[in-house]
Order: sequence, then structure tokens, then C-alpha cells
Amino acid sequence: MFNLGIITISDKAWQGKRADKSGPLIRESFATMDCRVVNYEVIPDEADVIAQKLSQWADAGNIDIILTTGGTGLAPRDVTPEATLSVIDKEVPGLAEMMRAKSFGITPNAMLSRAVAGMRKECLIVNLPGSPKAVAECLEVIMPVLPHAVDVIKGRVPEHTIPITGPDAGKD
Ligand code: MTE
Repeated sequence: MFNLGIITISDKAWQGKRADKSGPLIRESFATMDCRVVNYEVIPDEADVIAQKLSQWADAGNIDIILTTGGTGLAPRDVTPEATLSVIDKEVPGLAEMMRAKSFGITPNAMLSRAVAGMRKECLIVNLPGSPKAVAECLEVIMPVLPHAVDVIKGRVPEHTIPITGPDAGKD
């Protein structure tokens, strides 16, 4: 069981010029998992607003994972990775690396996401790209490891145990 926060980062959605489809899609995607969405907000592509929101939610202590969507690309207003890096204590590069690697098999444009992932205190923060298609594809990659990631962060499992998926599943 873990608590999730969802932040859609998009000037247009924040201004009401476009409906946010990606935030609700993230919520739906977790419907069958043992987790609760405790916060969801749409904010603009402003580094200080993003950094403040991430720190506030992570420091509140009731959110285990924050998923952001949007602002990871090359457009002048895309600053989600920089804002995320400015507030995390440790990077967790494998999550973003695998999202890009697996997504590259679907579209070479996956290389254009600068998404990062990391921890602030006991909260895991993961950037996802902005389009619903990209969100669905990237979630498929990272979702299987999230419950274990939270357990490890919370110290609920001893070190060096249990891959939950993949060829090593259940071997420890
Ligand atoms: N990743 C996946 N899996 N599927 C996609 O369609 N689109 C890419 C990339 N990552 C895409 C993807 C594109 S076109 C862009 S511009 C970047 O994500 C950045 O998107 P963002 O600025 O909306 O975050």
C-alpha cells in the first residue's frame, strides 16, 4: 500500500486552454494497484512553482510517490527536470533510463524526454513526459517496481531481497 500524488505540469492545462488528460490517466492506471491518490494538481511550467510543490508534498510525509507529467522536453518552457533536480536528495536514474530505453522501441522521440527521478526524504519523485500516450507507455515500464521501491525507502524490507518481476522473481 502506498500513497500517490499526481502533478500535471502544463501552462495550457493550468490556464484552462486544454483539458488535462494525462493526470486522470495516471489516476486510472493505478486503480487496480494497492495505492491511494491523495493529491492531484495542475500547475504551470514555472520552475519555482514546481520545486515548491514537490518539496511541500514530499515534506508533508503522507505521500510515498509523486508522479509529474509534462515539461520534460526541449521547449523553452520545459523545466520540470531542472525543478525536480533542485529539490531531490538522491537521483534514481534507472527509472528514467529504462523509460527512455523501452520507449525508444516505440518511438525515437523518447530520446527527447529529459525526465529524471529521485528521492526527497522518503518520497520518490518521477517525471513522466506529457502526452497521454507517453504516460501510458512509461507507466508500463516503471509500475511493476514501484511497490518494492516504496518498501525499500520505508525500510520495510531487508537489503538484497526479492525482485518482484523478471527472471529473478521470487528467487531470494
Ligand atoms: N515517450 C514515450 N514512451 N512515448 C512518446 O510518445 N514522446 C516524446 C518523449 N517521450 C514520447 C515519449 C516526445 S515527442 C517529447 S517532446 C518528450 O517526451 C517530452 O515531452 P514533454 O515535454 O511533454 O514532457
